Amino acid sequence: MTSVRPENRPLLALAPEGTRHGSRSHMTCFFRCGNACDRPEPNPTDHGHVRDEIARAVGRRGFLRGGGITAGALLVGGVLQSGALAAAATQAPRRPGRPGGHGALGHATFTPVQPNRRDAFVTAEGFGHEVVIRWGDPVVKGAPEFDPRAQTVESARKQFGYNCDYVGLLPLEGDEALLVVNHEYTDENLMFPAGAYSSDEVKRIAIASHGMSVVKVRRHRPASSWKRTGLGHATQNRRIHDATPFELTGPVAGDPRVRTTADPTGTTVLGTFNNCAGGTTPWGTVLSGEENFNQYFDKGAGLDARYTAQYARYGINGSGKGWGSVDPRFDLSKEPHEPHRFGWIVEVDPYDPASTPRKHTMLGRFKHEGANIAISTDGHAVAYMGDDERGDYLYKFVSADTYDPSGTKAARARNLQLLTRGTLYVAKLVGDGTEDGQHDGTGTWIPLASDTRSFVPGMSVADVLLFTRLAADKVAPTKMDRPEDVEPNPVNGKVYAALTNNSNRGSAAMPVDEANPLAGSHVRASIGAPLTKASGNRNGYVLELTPAAGDHAATEFTWDLFLVCGDPAAPETWFGGFDKSLVSPISCPDNVAFDSAGNLWISTDGNVLGSNDGVFRVPVTGPNRGQVQQFCTVPKGAEACGPLVADDDRSLFVAVQHPGEIDGATFEQPASTWPHTDAFPRPSVVVAYELPVR
Ligand code: FEO
Ligand code: CA
Ligand code: CA
Repeated sequence: MTSVRPENRPLLALAPEGTRHGSRSHMTCFFRCGNACDRPEPNPTDHGHVRDEIARAVGRRGFLRGGGITAGALLVGGVLQSGALAAAATQAPRRPGRPGGHGALGHATFTPVQPNRRDAFVTAEGFGHEVVIRWGDPVVKGAPEFDPRAQTVESARKQFGYNCDYVGLLPLEGDEALLVVNHEYTDENLMFPAGAYSSDEVKRIAIASHGMSVVKVRRHRPASSWKRTGLGHATQNRRIHDATPFELTGPVAGDPRVRTTADPTGTTVLGTFNNCAGGTTPWGTVLSGEENFNQYFDKGAGLDARYTAQYARYGINGSGKGWGSVDPRFDLSKEPHEPHRFGWIVEVDPYDPASTPRKHTMLGRFKHEGANIAISTDGHAVAYMGDDERGDYLYKFVSADTYDPSGTKAARARNLQLLTRGTLYVAKLVGDGTEDGQHDGTGTWIPLASDTRSFVPGMSVADVLLFTRLAADKVAPTKMDRPEDVEPNPVNGKVYAALTNNSNRGSAAMPVDEANPLAGSHVRASIGAPLTKASGNRNGYVLELTPAAGDHAATEFTWDLFLVCGDPAAPETWFGGFDKSLVSPISCPDNVAFDSAGNLWISTDGNVLGSNDGVFRVPVTGPNRGQVQQFCTVPKGAEACGPLVADDDRSLFVAVQHPGEIDGATFEQPASTWPHTDAFPRPSVVVAYELPVR
């Protein structure tokens, strides 16, 4: 994409009418992932489906039509919450809390928010909310106040970036903490007033508006609201941007295929792009996933024939954003290795603002949604990860060394090396048949490579880690419906994966199986409109994995579909067996989190039931298992990201990403003005909190 409109905004390459998937605006699809859904999924393999007789029967009979599933069937997974599981639960870092018990987010009932299309952040009754930080707000000393007509590369590198996604909260002393946020992508139509900037200025500022921010915040009472502290007291604040050096670690560091003109040793990469979700480690760092990085590279004079298959498998086709005209590293004909330096999990140490962030090649290269850590029974760090593409895979990494929880300086230094050595695995799921009334079965983590050995014939360790999708294809894992967040529950030790949707599921290239059962699902054009059937899996699933013997390092697991999302009136939906008349409709789960009671919190992206996106709470155990309740909705055109429950269960952080990103909207003619501080929308992090009892 190199053309610009006269007002120097990118020209939307609109898909032919009727081919847009889901409710997402053309703008979101174009700016975020380069219209990935308009092209065939890049996984060409024909393996990866649960090929048993029962799975084929699933497709024929359209299992999960509802009605025939009883609560008793739920017990399939229930036997698995053993003492061992509890003992092996994630050792999450301490989050800011306060003595005196836990708040309503984890325990009390609330009246669910109803589906709506308001240009507002709407919480359940009894909760307040406020904006913590907006796009353009100063992050580091010397940052100017935001002026949309006076944006520069220099200001963008000091202000809060665009399109906040992951939210982490790392404790400091007392009620202070460091908020760590990703800036996934830019929407030039909404960011720049028409005619205010040249085409090259738009590109340079957009590039600089990516990355991450570290922002000091403080809890305010009596409600558990949070505000930014003054910059004078925020020495750890940091803006990680396109010029920030990252160190490559692990077996691919220094490989000839990651060397460039600017970095002839292949060890230092400038910047991180398209950072989606992430995780906070037990040793107090933040992991962040480089996701749709493929869309940032232009073809230039042509694609390097050495990498035809590799580029294709990653969706690198040269239809970039024209950035090659302002920085040659985004021109594939000049720097064919630059895209090999993205698609990694990055680790940032927010406690040390002078530290060099790292890209850990040992965790593989794909469209990383995020990474979340559990500690195995014998102390290894286990990172769970999803590759967000239709028909791609679930992964995990197990460290070679063990986590040291002692809290000493030496221990932390050792823990900071945990993600540089270990073994990378990919998941294969097998169904056990649907006669049991459950979509469930067993699974295996198939090893791909360790730091010293490749398990994939014909590929070296560096080959496997650099081209992980191609390596995984060779061992026949299960093709999933866009794996997003994959996160271990610190209370019950199980792992929850959001599989957001897959419009192609059920096609000849991607048949249904017991883990991906829907070839058709119900959508709604607007609130109150009738449900209509659409092909594929449109509303998504939440998959529950139970590690064998409760050990996250185990190579075997069992699984079940905990939620088949959608409108509860749709026959295919399933809410962990809970009474479907008592749940909120939910569509397109994306990011997940847990409160201190172990309840699952789910944010959504791309609701196809007519409502704005939002955040939902659902218990995973006990009599209310599966009771999905909508806690909040985000403004028009936005997706809900984060989310993060502070550990006193009194406040929930939500990143409101791309408010007003609705087809046809511009800076001057916005579809949203949220958070209503300006005449244009500003992506912002919000904290919702329990109001004090009067
Ligand atoms: Fe950036 Fe997978 O969502
Ligand atoms: Ca079954
Ligand atoms: Ca996401």
